[in-house]
Amino acid sequence: MSHSIPQSLASRRILLIVGGGVAAYKALDLVRRLKERGASVHAVLTPAGAKFVTPLSLAALCGEPVRQDLFSLDDDARMGHIELSRDADLIVIAPATADLLAKAANGFAGDLASTLLLATDTRALAAPAMNLRMWLHPATQRNIARLKADGMAFVGPNEGEMACGEYGPGRMAEPLDIVAAVEKALQSPTAIPLPAGVLATSGALAGKRVVITSGPTHEPIDPVRYIANRSSGKQGHAIAQAAAWAGADVTLISGPVSIPDPVGVDMRHVETAAEMLAAVEAAMPTDIFIAAAAVADWRAAAPAAGKLKKVASGPPALMLVENPDILAAIGGRKQQRPALVVGFAAETDDILNHAREKLSKKGCDLIVANDVSPENAVLGGDLNTVHLVDAKGVDSWPRMRKEEVAARLIAALAERIGGSGS
Ligand SMILES: Cc1cc2nc3c(=O)[nH]c(=O)nc-3n(C[C@H](O)[C@H](O)[C@H](O)COP(=O)(O)O)c2cc1C
Repeated sequence: MSHSIPQSLASRRILLIVGGGVAAYKALDLVRRLKERGASVHAVLTPAGAKFVTPLSLAALCGEPVRQDLFSLDDDARMGHIELSRDADLIVIAPATADLLAKAANGFAGDLASTLLLATDTRALAAPAMNLRMWLHPATQRNIARLKADGMAFVGPNEGEMACGEYGPGRMAEPLDIVAAVEKALQSPTAIPLPAGVLATSGALAGKRVVITSGPTHEPIDPVRYIANRSSGKQGHAIAQAAAWAGADVTLISGPVSIPDPVGVDMRHVETAAEMLAAVEAAMPTDIFIAAAAVADWRAAAPAAGKLKKVASGPPALMLVENPDILAAIGGRKQQRPALVVGFAAETDDILNHAREKLSKKGCDLIVANDVSPENAVLGGDLNTVHLVDAKGVDSWPRMRKEEVAARLIAALAERIGGSGS
């Protein structure tokens, strides 16, 4: 190992999956580059990958045995294949074939490589390499979009001359570019796509009912115009997903959003604050109520029946009236009040004082306060910095992915309510 090379990956554990493409030969150089920066590299070679590089060369460069078979007793005796990916800091797929990406995007686990990708919450970085028609095919592009949404990182492909003689995008990124992407993926706070807390909270809310609101509301001005806000629903939906993973019976009441419904929750789609309140009332009773929606404070007093027209007398005056306060309505219930009522306070200044005020005014047990000033890019973004405010005090969490905020919040609520899990 050369001492002039910075040990930027010292003690980092990389699991390298080598797929069956012409670019597999570059994986050998990649192993060398990763190791000379201090990383340890375990390799998995797909059967197709083994047509392009030998397990022997890969093993010699890694200094570790190479795994090839899901059902190999020898390999398992040394290290269970599940542990292989869970123990890694990062999984690197290079070359990532169209086939491997399709399997990963759809959750297949019919061989060692795809099983490893499915059986872990360790983040993966893929370096796709394929013929440009394969790369540009809508099926591959659909798989890439889905994998990105699931948290997979990508490097390349580059444009250039392909082994098949065609020219275009599809060449695998060069080993040093992959190394740079590995370094970046390991530094990023988003290195783990599934929050660690998800597994910890598994079953923690079994037998409990949770009702959550999420997203903005749209308040009509006329049939084509409405008052809205920038809420994306990402945080509320992530909480609903985490609650479902924790075993709760979840109803998610969402305003208009463009993100997918979480899996395993009972969905109610609404538009206005009045509809949201009605849906929340209909979903009672519940053990936990979490009001994460950004409900419009006001609505047009008298939405026009037909589209408003420009007229010579000037713009119409928009008269607003106050919307029902859903959080206060549930927090202040005399009968069938949920055991835990959790509100959200999105503020741009004096966050904690506003949160304390909201806590008492709305009869909540807990307020999740966050700073939604534009520079924090919380509204619509993937990260959130929250403070949990209750009668006892404030617990401030570092900036993290919304999924992780969700998992931690569910763990905290399970602890308060004493779910059947632990
Ligand atoms: C000569 C040759 C080159 C290939 N190159 C690629 C490639 O660069 N990218 C790719 O996605 N598939 C390529 N394939 C097809 C894959 O090897 C095939 O889809 C295989 O099933 C992939 O298996 P794996 O994803 O488990 O490694 C190639 C096939 C052959 C015969």
